[in-house]
Amino acid sequence: MKNLQDLIKITKQELIAALQAARTEKELEDVRIAYLGRTGKLLELMKQLKALPIEQKRTLGPLINELKTFAQEQYEAKKIQLQQQQAEQKAREQQYFDVTAYRPQKILGCTHIFTQLIEQLETIFISMGYDIADGPEVETDYYNFEALNIPADHPARDLHDTFWLDVPNMLLRTHTSSVQVHAMETQKLPIALLAPGRCYRNEATDASHDFMFMQAEGLLIDHDVSMAHLLATAKTFLQEIFEKKDLAIRVRPGYFPFVEPGVEIDAACPFCTSGCSTCKKTGWIELLGAGLVHPNVLQASGIDSEQYSGFAFGFGLERIAMIKYGINDIRLFRSNNIEFLEQF
Ligand code: FA5
Repeated sequence: MKNLQDLIKITKQELIAALQAARTEKELEDVRIAYLGRTGKLLELMKQLKALPIEQKRTLGPLINELKTFAQEQYEAKKIQLQQQQAEQKAREQQYFDVTAYRPQKILGCTHIFTQLIEQLETIFISMGYDIADGPEVETDYYNFEALNIPADHPARDLHDTFWLDVPNMLLRTHTSSVQVHAMETQKLPIALLAPGRCYRNEATDASHDFMFMQAEGLLIDHDVSMAHLLATAKTFLQEIFEKKDLAIRVRPGYFPFVEPGVEIDAACPFCTSGCSTCKKTGWIELLGAGLVHPNVLQASGIDSEQYSGFAFGFGLERIAMIKYGINDIRLFRSNNIEFLEQF
């Protein structure tokens, strides 16, 4: 009997000490489990009580019950005390809240690589006295083909896999050359323009072809414009865009119905001297379709081809970006892949 009575006393003292030591609600909960839980110390006392004779049960039973009530009351009181302390602590923290210490994590956006490239192109051509022009992406057959010396039965139409619209003679422009015609019809001479914009071709996509892509068109019309002007302009532009002042170019014959003569302009590979994977071991990279504006094109837009001549060139923006930044798949540009886009 004496033993259990002593144990009740000791348990009470330990309980008081454990409650005092509890600093958090979690610690307090641990105390509750240790004393009042299903395998707690109070239940252990009860078990021991059961084994005792009835008269001892009568004396010690109420003591254990008292201790249980005491434990519950003390637990509740401590819980309220801890909650109050916590609320006071929070209030103190908020009272001295340092607004300058708050640094929200910023996610910085950036302009798309095409926007950056177009801005660079515009800076280069504006510095050479060019205007920046724009034209419709939904075009008529006339502006995309007819006025560019590509009549209905012309085989060159087959090269442009066209998205025709349900409306007769309407299409999604297959190249930015259509902007030439709008400009020649509406602008006063001389004309010097650069027209970047989206184009569409009904082609199967692969690593270097997309059904929607960006081109930029250059056009200069004035008196006595020659191939020399075209080549000097192309060379300057390519040297600037690839940031290589001594970049060499070469010219090969090329066929586009709206220019005569037509040429393809290649740049020496900016990355190697003896052949690499970018230039497919040739040392040269095909970049521009170009030529002197065909007299038929000038005349279709009401420009006297005896008085005026001009040059035009066109190129793919994806191609320039892929070479400039070493990108190997055109589909990445519109993949919405944040890791890819963040690089620029
Ligand atoms: C033309 O579109 C001519 N209008 C260019 C031109 C303008 C020549 C003025 C002469 C005078 P071409 O079809 O080759 O040419 O296209 C030019 C560039 O557009 C290509 O070199 C390529 O970089 C890009 N391009 C064409 N088709 C696609 C495509 N499906 N996906 C991605 N880029 C393309």
